[in-house]
Amino acid sequence: MASLTVRQLDETLKQQLRLRAARSGRSVEDEVRTILKAAAEESEAPAPVAKAAPGPAPATKVANKRVLLIIGGGIAAYKSLDLIRRLKERGFAVRCILTAAATQFITPLAAGALTGERVFTDLFDPASEFDVGHIRLARDTDLVVVAPATADLMAKMANGHANDLATAVLLATTAKVLLAPAMNPQMWANQATQRNLAQLKADGVTMTGPNAGEMAESGERGTGRMAEPMEIAGAVDRLFAAQGERPLAGQRVLVTSGPTHEPIDPVRYIANRSSGKQGHAIATAAAQAGADVTLISGPVTLPDPPGVKLIKVESARDMLRATEQALPVDVAIFAAAVADWRVANAGEQKIKKKAGESIPDLLLVENPDILSAIAHHIDQRPALVIGFAAETENVEANAKAKLARKGCDWILANDVSPQTGIMGGDSNTIKLVTADGIEAWPPQSKDDVARMLIARIAAAMKAPKA
Ligand SMILES: Cc1cc2nc3c(=O)[nH]c(=O)nc-3n(C[C@H](O)[C@H](O)[C@H](O)COP(=O)(O)O)c2cc1C
Repeated sequence: MASLTVRQLDETLKQQLRLRAARSGRSVEDEVRTILKAAAEESEAPAPVAKAAPGPAPATKVANKRVLLIIGGGIAAYKSLDLIRRLKERGFAVRCILTAAATQFITPLAAGALTGERVFTDLFDPASEFDVGHIRLARDTDLVVVAPATADLMAKMANGHANDLATAVLLATTAKVLLAPAMNPQMWANQATQRNLAQLKADGVTMTGPNAGEMAESGERGTGRMAEPMEIAGAVDRLFAAQGERPLAGQRVLVTSGPTHEPIDPVRYIANRSSGKQGHAIATAAAQAGADVTLISGPVTLPDPPGVKLIKVESARDMLRATEQALPVDVAIFAAAVADWRVANAGEQKIKKKAGESIPDLLLVENPDILSAIAHHIDQRPALVIGFAAETENVEANAKAKLARKGCDWILANDVSPQTGIMGGDSNTIKLVTADGIEAWPPQSKDDVARMLIARIAAAMKAPKA
């Protein structure tokens, strides 16, 4: 068998091998052995089975945004595990650095399991510092969040220290930095901390919290509680919104979705074929755009969309009640297929089939018109009220008439004739009807319809009012 000496390889290859070896913590010779073994095993292995098509690409620009979360050594570190979830459900890629003190409160394992990424703790880690990894970490992010920001981290930042991974990255980054301070009220009130705070603000660092209230230490109250994970996630939204990334940050959006079920008796009901896919996609897209979303959903079999407040209802009257309770909002989108009628003489007990007796008559009465009720709301009409018109004929004419009749601002009309496959399907073809005219949108997935609608809403909410 031919012998091979690493020294005889060309310089570029040797350099690549050194980098690989440093990254995996092996000697160069061991790295070569590992590569050869893997290559030999691969040539022995059966041909790979064709993989399923990859899932859809991340939906929006925000899905590609990276947040580096630095967790400091305070009791509130446990809340940062929830913050990871809140950021991930908004579509951010999250990486974590834990300070040495933070590892006394939470484990890198927990943070890694939640981020799905390697967790960094050590400035002098040969596996990541062979190519000056701390500078890479500082650069490969769109935002750095420090939560909890301890008094110690604030002091180090204000004075430009860089004696561990967290502070070195904070000094090296050009990304925006958001701090969520958390400490004992006396530590927060201390002049040194307040000096550091003033310096950090002057340096362009953004703060969220601390809040006033009960502290983790028994009997302690005051200002020093870390902002809640949802508040920190909201601050992240606003920072990206300021950079044009979260166009609906700070806006309250209400979405209704799915069918309603109108009882005939305790076990039977009248329903329709709405799946809720379009309404749920809109709620998801609004949340990804940074909105504070309330989704009021009739009975559906879809997973709960992340990052929204979900209220589950059954009937049209439940949906109206929940909708009114959710006001005030800035934008209301009525995508639910609300039953026009309900059974006035619904049985309190199961209606029994009795031999020889006539079939019971169902007496139908009109349900409340939720879209019209909210569009005509006297003191809490949202700035933008959007309805859907599910039509099976004369789509445009019916949608125009509905716009005028209901008093809403926009109607999204779709043809739900069975041959279109829209009701319950994954795609939709929309005609947007406004006071300015009718705009035909191309056939596209319901997710894309949702994103297009959210972009239109964001533009409308930004435009100066006529
Ligand atoms: C039980 C315990 C709780 C602590 N909680 C906090 C805290 O909430 N905020 C804070 O600034 N320091 C807190 N400290 C002190 C920090 O852990 C200490 O200053 C540490 O050096 C901070 O390191 P870091 O800033 O590198 O994470 C706590 C210490 C202990 C032992």
